[in-house]
Amino acid sequence: MRIFSGIQPTGRKHLGNYIGAISQYVAAQDRGEALFCIVDLHAITVPYEPTELRERLYDTTAILLAAGLDPERCMLFRQSDVKEHTELTWLLCSVTELGRLQRMHQFRDKSLSQRELVSAGLLLYPVLQAADVLAYRANEVPVGEDQREHLELMRDVARRFNARFGDGEEVLVVPEHRIPEVGARIMDLQDPTRKMSTTGAGGTAGAAGGQGTVYVLDEPAAIEKKLKGAVTDSGSEIRRDAEKPGVSNLIEILAAVRGVVPETVEAEHAQARYGEFKTAVAAAVADYLAPARERYVELRADEARIESILQGGAERAQAIASQTLADVRERMGLGAPRAGGPAATSGTLDTVRR
Ligand code: TYM
Repeated sequence: MRIFSGIQPTGRKHLGNYIGAISQYVAAQDRGEALFCIVDLHAITVPYEPTELRERLYDTTAILLAAGLDPERCMLFRQSDVKEHTELTWLLCSVTELGRLQRMHQFRDKSLSQRELVSAGLLLYPVLQAADVLAYRANEVPVGEDQREHLELMRDVARRFNARFGDGEEVLVVPEHRIPEVGARIMDLQDPTRKMSTTGAGGTAGAAGGQGTVYVLDEPAAIEKKLKGAVTDSGSEIRRDAEKPGVSNLIEILAAVRGVVPETVEAEHAQARYGEFKTAVAAAVADYLAPARERYVELRADEARIESILQGGAERAQAIASQTLADVRERMGLGAPRAGGPAATSGTLDTVRR
């Protein structure tokens, strides 16, 4: 089983990323051959500062290491180091429907909110994401709920490629998403109708200037302040309900960080008042994030080690991706024919190997 996921180097990583994705990455290392990619090429589809990008990429790498990714047990690498991602993006464009890209929610939202240039890269973002996964013929992609549409598109692109060029074979693997049962969509603490997020480069998201977003590197005092200030709803019961998005979100957060089902949290806090409940959630979240925050400082300080981990990961990743690309090029009739490949002809080009 091969597992692949990607994460943006922009902004600061938050509790939603941690619960929805990063904790799953750590677990994936024991379930199969795992690859994790920090997607700097995706980050350039919106306005950004080149020097900042490198810093944020190191921050993100250090957070992933601090959370428990182990370069001995997974391949952790930087997207732009493996050129096959960009090459495959272009090749997959030929089996990607333009209208579908224009209808993607993320493209519509981001292009509407973008005051500067709306780049062609923003439109092609999902094709690059498809290439990320398909280049490794990954079986499974652990992600949060917000990536569902991107996963559907990449599955369709893989199917369409196989139908057009596969000659009855599954040249590209159609991957499955792995979205957690609990914590797949952590909501903003100040506005629980929108997902917790960091907006692009600035990293100062949240309805109340960051108060709605708990960051992985927040000190316990900041975590407590944000959770105690979380918007709750009218009424006083601790139970999940579509009418009670604030309380429902806190229940989900506590269940996820404790590794229990939401029903357990509801039963245990049935008699609690909102204030007491928020204090309990704050304490649990602070404990949950503390080990990663503590390890981060030392890991982030050693940029030479981070670079060497990323380069080692990229070499191993590239060895896999280059084989897929050789097959894809062959199937698409690009470049010189491979000896023994489906389109190989006997003759002078027989000896040309890629
Ligand atoms: P990114 O960097 O925005 O988010 C990284 C992961 O965190 C999850 N996530 C959340 N989970 C729960 N609650 C939230 N509020 C929340 N916010 C974010 C995301 O679902 C994601 O799993 N396009 C991707 C990066 C990417 C990728 C890939 C992912 C590029 N190539 C290939 C998978 C496979 C993104 O922007 O993630």
